[in-house]
Amino acid sequence: MKLLVTGGAGYIGSHTCVELLNENHDVVVLDNLSNSSEESLNRVKQITKKSLEFYKADLLNKQQIAAVFAEHKIDAVIHFAGLKAVGESVSIPLKYFHNNITGTLNLLEVMTEFNVKNIVFSSSATVYGDPASLPITEEFPLSATNPYGRTKLMIEEILKDLYHSDKSWNIALLRYFNPVGAHQSGDIGEDPLGIPNNLVPYIAQVAMGFLPRLSVFGNDYDTPDGTGVRDFIHVVDLALGHVKTLPKLLTHKGLMIYNLGTGQGYSVLEMIKGFEKASGKKIPYKIVDRRPGDIAACWADPAKAKKALGWEASKTLADMCQDTWNWQKKNPSGYRQNIK
Ligand SMILES: NC(=O)c1ccc[n+]([C@@H]2O[C@H](COP(=O)([O-])OP(=O)(O)OC[C@H]3O[C@@H](n4cnc5c(N)ncnc54)[C@H](O)[C@@H]3O)[C@@H](O)[C@H]2O)c1
Repeated sequence: MKLLVTGGAGYIGSHTCVELLNENHDVVVLDNLSNSSEESLNRVKQITKKSLEFYKADLLNKQQIAAVFAEHKIDAVIHFAGLKAVGESVSIPLKYFHNNITGTLNLLEVMTEFNVKNIVFSSSATVYGDPASLPITEEFPLSATNPYGRTKLMIEEILKDLYHSDKSWNIALLRYFNPVGAHQSGDIGEDPLGIPNNLVPYIAQVAMGFLPRLSVFGNDYDTPDGTGVRDFIHVVDLALGHVKTLPKLLTHKGLMIYNLGTGQGYSVLEMIKGFEKASGKKIPYKIVDRRPGDIAACWADPAKAKKALGWEASKTLADMCQDTWNWQKKNPSGYRQNIK
């Protein structure tokens, strides 16, 4: 199958490219490199010993998208491209709405023009807002607490409306829980620009001594140790979820929605302990006030994906911490040291 992977140079995209190439799919990546580096794709080629096509192109530019479709007979699109920093989306919402929504509309219009009607979309557990109970099933009510989450919710609605208008579309909405970890080779991983927004890359940089300590936002939540609990999922398990979705999308057809999580919650303190064990380093941390908008706990019911896709996460908390640490040690400055 020939797949267009938007945002394929990014964190989840690059890991998914590896698993797609391992399954002998043809991969075409479209990415504007606004939050990534082409070096990640060189590494993907090294790991798989296979090649892929790369277009430095922007979803905000329809001609650039159309040029890729004109050159390749694409069977399906996996759409990762988007901006994802929650805090930044609160300060510059228009940039988020424009990039994520206009970018997606452009992509869908070009796909329609070229009669490519199979798409897998990167949604997020953020669309469940503050869930009333746990674990979260796909039927839970949806809401958003920030502009980033609203872009995910709006794109889900756009895709549902599109499907209802034209049943020849096949659409998978994959709601990711909290992706962490890195490829077991340590050659690709999460490479945040500047100070990391996410917990695990932050812990990794504290372990390296690049940052003095971790701030833990609140220890008075109604959770076993008082700190926030999340469903951390290894990025390779998540990538494999996409590989398993493709045959389902093309045979079962229609609109489908799956949670991609492990079904197990771990607290911030448990993650710190796991990382201390993997790295052999002490992670200094300080308890600070809760962050506005953060919820106490969130984990998936992944049963639907298991039943329908034959997929379930298999990697452990120890794997997530060990693989992050390998990547961080091997690449202290991420991909930047390799950029000429
Ligand atoms: N990482 C998470 O915690 C998480 C959780 C749930 C959902 N998601 C979603 O999964 C997707 C991938 O996330 P990620 O963590 O790999 O992020 P990432 O930033 O590493 O990857 C996104 C990629 O999209 C590219 N991009 C952004 N805007 C673009 C545009 N207009 N045109 C072309 N390329 C563009 C960026 O350069 C980047 O390479 C995103 O849609 C994100 O919202 C991520």
